[in-house]
Amino acid sequence: MTEHDVAYDEASLLIQLEPEAGRLYDRHAKVAVEWFPHDFIPYRLGRDFDKEPWTPDQPRLTGVAQTAFEIGLLTEDNLPSYHRLIHGMFGKGDGAWINWVGRWTAEEGRHAIVLRDYLTVTRNIDPVLLERGRMAQLQQGYEHDTPSTLRGLAYVAFQELATRISHRNTGRYSSDPVADRIMIRIAADENLHMVFYRDILGAALQIQPSAAVRAIVDEILAFQMPGAGIPNFVRKAAQIAKAGIYDLRVHRDEVLLPILQHWRFFELEGLDGAAEEARRRLAEHLERLDVAATRFEAKLAASGVTRIAAIGTGTPDRVPTG
Ligand SMILES: [Fe+2]
Ligand SMILES: [Fe+2]
Repeated sequence: MTEHDVAYDEASLLIQLEPEAGRLYDRHAKVAVEWFPHDFIPYRLGRDFDKEPWTPDQPRLTGVAQTAFEIGLLTEDNLPSYHRLIHGMFGKGDGAWINWVGRWTAEEGRHAIVLRDYLTVTRNIDPVLLERGRMAQLQQGYEHDTPSTLRGLAYVAFQELATRISHRNTGRYSSDPVADRIMIRIAADENLHMVFYRDILGAALQIQPSAAVRAIVDEILAFQMPGAGIPNFVRKAAQIAKAGIYDLRVHRDEVLLPILQHWRFFELEGLDGAAEEARRRLAEHLERLDVAATRFEAKLAASGVTRIAAIGTGTPDRVPTG
């Protein structure tokens, strides 16, 4: 916890934000579409694994497409850890906060179900590798340093958008219409999760502008995808970046900037000195990311690696923002 984090009272912030959380929850419940994993799975392709074991020649997905699905599913698998963290973040609240955590958790659980069923029925990934990866990751758990509700909210807002885009790009990269349809469906859910967190933090920026600005900057500077417990995560994340599924350019231009612009982050007024200083550090960070992303793209262009084209914003933001 930094000295700044104690400048506001967590419990009273949660109470102040609760009416907005209730409004955003109701909005979510109205626009979220009910869907069923079984409707997305080509069960006609299923065969018994005891009669016909998995072999490496069976997957239609290969290389990075396979890796991206593995990381996507293992990330969704870690839901118990995320639930614990988010519940802890909202633990001093009740009513709308707890309703949201429950709803969010139930929706996220569906993502792992549909991805596992798809990958198992199509034999696109070694099911033994997948299960061992899940065991390894869940036993390690996921610890994210969230010293405050504001930092936790900032993390999940960016994380949901990052997940929406990496799932959507994974579907596109697969060139499999079945996989693409699943990923479009999941990405639409992640989008609604993102707008909930983005907008509740937007409300926090009105109530505690300086503390919220500092929390957002701290979280962006420390941002990491939640895959550290996945076997060989660093190597796999590098492959996913090279393929253009999730790289620095996507992170900066399609995750950080749209949310910051939505908040009019660099136009906020009446901040204290520490918040102004944090905003300067963020501007420098965005510049550095731009330089690093450009350098990365130039290196890859010279190497001839196959990349997917940028897909813009993917799933449209269909939720009214007012
Ligand atoms: Fe998800
Ligand atoms: Fe989500």
